[in-house]
Amino acid sequence: MIEREKVEEIKRQTDIVAVVGQYVQLKKMGRNYRGLCPFHSEKNPSFYVSPEKGIFYCFGCKKGGNAINFLMEYEKLDFPDAVKRLAKNLGIEIDTTKGLRYKELYEVNEQACQFYAKCLNEAIGRRGKDYLTRRKLSIDKIKSFRLGYAPASGGLVTYLRQKGFSIDRLRQAGLISTSREIFRDRLIFPILNMSGRIIGFGGRGIDDYIQPKYLNSPETAIFKKGECLYGLYQSKDQVRAKGEVLLVEGYFDLLSVYQHGFDNICAPLGTSLTEQQAMLLSRFAKKVFILFDGDLSGIKAALRAIGLLINAQVDVHVASLPEDSDPDNFINQNGADALRELLGGAVDFFHFYKRVVKTDTLEQEIALIKDLIQIIAKIQDPIRYDRYLKYVARVFGIETEVLQKEITQKVKEPMKVSRNIKISQEEKLMAMILNGWEHFSLVKKHLHPDDFKEGGVKRLFKKLEKEDGFDVANLSELVEENLREKLLSIVMREDPVSKESLIEAIMTHKGRVQKDRLMKKISDAVERGDEAARQQYYKELDTLKRQLLKIGVEKATNIEI
Ligand code: UTP
Ligand code: MN
Repeated sequence: MIEREKVEEIKRQTDIVAVVGQYVQLKKMGRNYRGLCPFHSEKNPSFYVSPEKGIFYCFGCKKGGNAINFLMEYEKLDFPDAVKRLAKNLGIEIDTTKGLRYKELYEVNEQACQFYAKCLNEAIGRRGKDYLTRRKLSIDKIKSFRLGYAPASGGLVTYLRQKGFSIDRLRQAGLISTSREIFRDRLIFPILNMSGRIIGFGGRGIDDYIQPKYLNSPETAIFKKGECLYGLYQSKDQVRAKGEVLLVEGYFDLLSVYQHGFDNICAPLGTSLTEQQAMLLSRFAKKVFILFDGDLSGIKAALRAIGLLINAQVDVHVASLPEDSDPDNFINQNGADALRELLGGAVDFFHFYKRVVKTDTLEQEIALIKDLIQIIAKIQDPIRYDRYLKYVARVFGIETEVLQKEITQKVKEPMKVSRNIKISQEEKLMAMILNGWEHFSLVKKHLHPDDFKEGGVKRLFKKLEKEDGFDVANLSELVEENLREKLLSIVMREDPVSKESLIEAIMTHKGRVQKDRLMKKISDAVERGDEAARQQYYKELDTLKRQLLKIGVEKATNIEI
């Protein structure tokens, strides 16, 4: 771990507006800054940054946290790398040799990768080598992909145990299930994150009849399939430089095309493209060429991907392969020039839709128009938006105004922003406590963890009792995601809390807790048939009610937020 004090110092010195401002155009709005959320697509800004509190929060997609969380999410960095990035900006030196949170998982994967690569190069990897030759892959040209071979007889566990890794660690890294090695007699494709660390593996069975043909590591703490793109690490510089990227479906497609000189290429991992992958891609390229298999499933996958990519504000073009072909066999049969030509003839999403979607009947045509409108409505670039709208109008012979009306009425959904989160009284109180942190010693005097019924709030309160300093920006490390979301959404809106209103809120809460306890006692007494006790508790309840009334609690049932 990077020492805690160092992290704190870096956080204190970091200006979150400057950090976020590198990626998002922010406008000052009162005490906060506002901009378009980089984590989901939106037309009206619901992404806020608070310089005082050191946090960001999006009321649309509910993502929030401090500057470190922002970099982790946006740049796909892990915690230590994000901290290092901030430190570098500030000119602070940090020593990360002491170990990082996921360091061992990365390490064990790195060692596993080396083991598989070693096997591929030795006699035991003969089958792997022969397979590569058969599939016309040249190891030299694709060195950066660090391919390997997992022997049928295994050997990974022994190798890693000798390197000092525990069985538990291998399991956490998804390399074994129970104690059996997951990959056997498979060609291994290490999967790298955007920092170049190995987060998981894909494996292709050497024998064609092996099921499944491809196997990926299970998801682990560091491996989330839907969030990474195979090959993007190796090709990111080229992708950035060219501003364009080829998107293919499979590992072999990618490697074959890559070794023929198309070095701006990536692939999703065996599933259809996800929103996160589309967002990730859009940060590197503004134009995507979809190059999926020529069969029906490839076409369907392309139709799905188009929506997500347009949503991520990239320009999408689709190149069509012959029906029985995929990029791998196409390039091996026809060569690089043929592929270049094919890409040159790629059509934009509009023409692709028009070509592949069947419109024999009027109803089918209407469905197609509606699909297209859905997609076009998401284009933010006004010129492209206008151009496509006119296209549809012209091609289908509809008035632009009619389309425009359809869009404003049906498509322009009021975004997820309206997804209201229910916030409980205890959560409101907790948000006030956080906002009025400087009065915490007072809060501690009056409140006890047991005064909270809700587990998450109670746990957080216990942790806060132990902390001697608190910063809203640290909230992420203290509470679980769901509660953090809610608390951040209140904290972001609220001004600092005065001592008086905090006391009032605490008293209100305490009154409520005591009342609940007494009610419970009363109903217990009734159940036991203990009339004396019942009367006693009623008396107490009466006194309490009178006290509460005195501080105006019954009126102040709602703590305004
Ligand atoms: P394909 O079935 O199109 O295979 O899967 P392919 O890429 O042409 O593979 P080869 O040429 O027969 O070796 C496309 C991608 O879908 C994922 C893999 O990522 C594969 O590259 N996939 C496929 C799986 O994850 N599991 C499977 O069983 C099959
Ligand atoms: Mn193939």
